Amino acid sequence: MSRRIQFLEGFRHLDAGSGLSDTGGIQASASALKVLGVASTVALGGFLVGFDATVISGAVPFIRDYFGLGGDSGSLKLGWAVSCLGWGAMAGNLAAGVLSDRFGRKKVLLLTSLLFLASALTAASSTSFTVFVIARICGGLAVGAAILTAPVYIAEIAPAPARGSLVSLNQLMIVIGISISFFSNYFLVSLGAESWRWMLGVQVIPAAVYFLLLILVPESPRWLLSKGREQSALAVLEQVHGSAAAQRELADIQASLGSKSRRFTLRALLSGRLRRVLIFGFGIAFFQQATGINAVFYYLPTIFAQAGGGLATAFGQSVFVGFVNVGMTFVAIWLIDRLGRKPLLCIGVAGMTVSLLTISWAFYTAHAAIGGAPAVSHGTVVLVAIAAFVASFAISLGPVMWVMLAEIFPNEERAAAISVVGFWNSLVSASVTLFFPQELATWGPAGTFLAYGLLAAAGLLFIVLLAPETKGKTLEELERMLARPTQAPG
Ligand code: BGC
Repeated sequence: MSRRIQFLEGFRHLDAGSGLSDTGGIQASASALKVLGVASTVALGGFLVGFDATVISGAVPFIRDYFGLGGDSGSLKLGWAVSCLGWGAMAGNLAAGVLSDRFGRKKVLLLTSLLFLASALTAASSTSFTVFVIARICGGLAVGAAILTAPVYIAEIAPAPARGSLVSLNQLMIVIGISISFFSNYFLVSLGAESWRWMLGVQVIPAAVYFLLLILVPESPRWLLSKGREQSALAVLEQVHGSAAAQRELADIQASLGSKSRRFTLRALLSGRLRRVLIFGFGIAFFQQATGINAVFYYLPTIFAQAGGGLATAFGQSVFVGFVNVGMTFVAIWLIDRLGRKPLLCIGVAGMTVSLLTISWAFYTAHAAIGGAPAVSHGTVVLVAIAAFVASFAISLGPVMWVMLAEIFPNEERAAAISVVGFWNSLVSASVTLFFPQELATWGPAGTFLAYGLLAAAGLLFIVLLAPETKGKTLEELERMLARPTQAPG
């Protein structure tokens, strides 16, 4: 009992959000648990996103042999096999906005669970490179749609004081998915040449579970209201926030939707009303990917092997990095509604800059010292610096970008705007992962990580100058604060 109270205490803002007095405490706790349950279920989409994206890192050494992607001539094709998921994700990003505005957030999430399932089955059983790539692109469609729709849904159902933590659950699930993929690859690698099929195939289990659980969650109240379904919206708000808070929120959302009838058009964009949030959105989405997080995650065993360890050690080190990622995401969830978004971004991106430059330095001195054959001690520096890089990302750009993208756009434009910015994020990610093997071959690891480090320094400057603080305000308050050209953010 006391543990449960402690846990609820962590989410006590939910009770505050419900506006109930002490006598309503039990009801408020029940609401808090409901919101937490719904948000966690939807966030399972993040698990599939993370798993599907990084599971490829374990398959790389095997598909390279199976599909004949070795050598200099094969490196671009290998890059394609790894990054094609990202290109599919871009299509998924664009489709997510249109589909989730039209059919609702829940239906889009249900669709992604089926796509994850089909993609895993097909990729795992493929005997031709083309079928493999098509299956991975389908997985990418699901990744692209889920990674945007899940945070939007959670932001739209969460009470303001706990929104940062609840939306971050999605990132937590992403990183747990990433870790479990490293973990399962680590166990499955012993199956030998065909192990890649198992690595990719096990995803059918979480995909099926996600589908079944999603059936139980309600539709987003803000989407329901945007479709004029007031009674259904009120029912959902009452179910998750309690009746007093539900009435207040309903009125606030109605005011935000009713005061104007807007579409996310080029005109709206050029009018300047959204310019500030779009510049920030595009910028943070760029820096989240251009600083190399997915180059690191998708090629982790390959990087560690370059730093001097064998392949088996490299798989073990990847598991360790996965744990660091999960642990630090918990720290971010704890801090995001307390410390705020901007301080976390500043601290984390400063840490990313330092660790990336350290990785570059370690590779550089390893090569300088022994003429091209890296020493194991440098391998340790690389391991520690990569862990520090991932830890810094996990408390900053990882969760905070998704939280802020789900917050900064007005109700009516949220899904469409996040679609476009998410597309851009995937485009940068896919480019980074496509060119990474070639960059390693031409610039070497030292040059490649130096470039990421310099980009991280630029990202820090961008954040210091342009990031607004969105902590603690309702989505409607943020809309009033950020979506007007006459007012400064933050
Ligand atoms: C990013 C992903 C990345 C993951 C790593 C997410 O926030 O959008 O591209 O793989 O974090 O933790």
